Amino acid sequence: MQASYPYYLGNRPVESSSGLDVIDKFTGQVATTVSLADSQTLDQAIAEAKQAEAAMRGLPAFARKAVLLQCVEAFKAQADQLAQSLCVEAGKPIKDSRGEVARLIDTFQIAAEESVRIGGEVLELEISPRAAGYRGMYRRVPIGACGFISPFNFPLNLAAHKVAAAIAAGCPFILKPASRTPVGALQIGEILAQTDLPSGAFSILPCSRSTADQLVTDDRIKLLSFTGSPNVGWDMKARCGKKEVVLELGGNAACIVDHDANLDDATQRIMIGAFYQSGQSCIGVQRILIHRDIYPAMKQRLIDAATALPCGDPKLESTFIGPMIDVSEAERVEAWIQQAIAVGANLLCGGTRDHAMIPATLLENVARDQPLCAQEAFGPVAILQAFDSFDEAINIANDSAYGLQAGVFTRDHYKVQQAWDELDVGGVVIGDVPSWRVDHMPYGGVKDSGLGREGIRYAIESMTEIRMLITRTIDS
Ligand code: SIN
Repeated sequence: MQASYPYYLGNRPVESSSGLDVIDKFTGQVATTVSLADSQTLDQAIAEAKQAEAAMRGLPAFARKAVLLQCVEAFKAQADQLAQSLCVEAGKPIKDSRGEVARLIDTFQIAAEESVRIGGEVLELEISPRAAGYRGMYRRVPIGACGFISPFNFPLNLAAHKVAAAIAAGCPFILKPASRTPVGALQIGEILAQTDLPSGAFSILPCSRSTADQLVTDDRIKLLSFTGSPNVGWDMKARCGKKEVVLELGGNAACIVDHDANLDDATQRIMIGAFYQSGQSCIGVQRILIHRDIYPAMKQRLIDAATALPCGDPKLESTFIGPMIDVSEAERVEAWIQQAIAVGANLLCGGTRDHAMIPATLLENVARDQPLCAQEAFGPVAILQAFDSFDEAINIANDSAYGLQAGVFTRDHYKVQQAWDELDVGGVVIGDVPSWRVDHMPYGGVKDSGLGREGIRYAIESMTEIRMLITRTIDS
């Protein structure tokens, strides 16, 4: 990691007079400092993005693809450095950090491919005599300047989902990365600054939440894409005026384990789904629903496996669970665990906090109105609940304000169909945990979990508008 990082204003690196310290999430020491933007800078970035709209719109598809492929090559060359600094700034175990860098590369590669596939459609208009002689077709045109706010849990890849899609679509953008993990986005900026993107096409500006609020309220921004907590996201939507909005928010994902599941396989997958990167994923397994016939056997397997997960220094190859993003988040999760126990839950393993570290924690008998069940835990904790029928499992899974993804371990084809028909979520994962994602699939939630979809092609749809062409032919 460098000693300091500039921000990017209209494609140019700028060292500002005020800085933001970035903490090594395991040691608690300052790891680096990034330049911090003020309101004036953000305003200038918006003005430059607005000016860059025409040049970005005019970039031919092959040029947008070339920029994205140049980034892919640069990320590959810097993969190790990117993983090391991610491990420090996010406290993400080094193996998961390498996994995120691999996904960053995938995301830009997918965007490069999609950038040359933004097509349209020929429409049959002659549906009645009134329309005789008319023909129609449409293509997609870039929406204009975009405002992006990305979260702390995937500092590279969730920024990439917005940035790479915008370049593929031909939209200038301003990105505000998460204040606790701004380095990944600035490393992307350093690489983008070496490309031939038109002047003013991108700004990447660590700044305060109040400064970034201009991305929400300013009418020059045509699309706001936010990934983060539900309360913040829905409040932004209420205040953002006429702009397009994409919200990727939280969840309390359910994972159903039916009586015919392979228990060893389900246990191993749930360990990953519930506890990778300390449960700080919107699609982390939070509610494990287990058929009553296999409940005792599955519960014991889960306890044994969770207790064995190594916790500690994320820089060690052997570590599975590193620190949470900060002590206050760990204190919140600890308080939720204590609150659930106080009203009758049984702690099965884990549950103790050491600074920002919480080991893999499992509970049962958690009341449905407890935050640990009803809200997004976003920590290394999951709750177990027994069900008697598949219908009941679906009802419990749907008994949530959220609906991002759900997982189902079953071998029954009819239950697969039922789950797909009846689970009120953005994605149903059969034979695996809800936490599974690959970066070109549509990804997003229903209910409080969000609005719209990411997954490059789907993000490009929101970043472009349909423009019709209608032609009338008359007999000469
Ligand atoms: C998220 O936490 O919303 C993203 C999860 C992922 O991309 O794997």
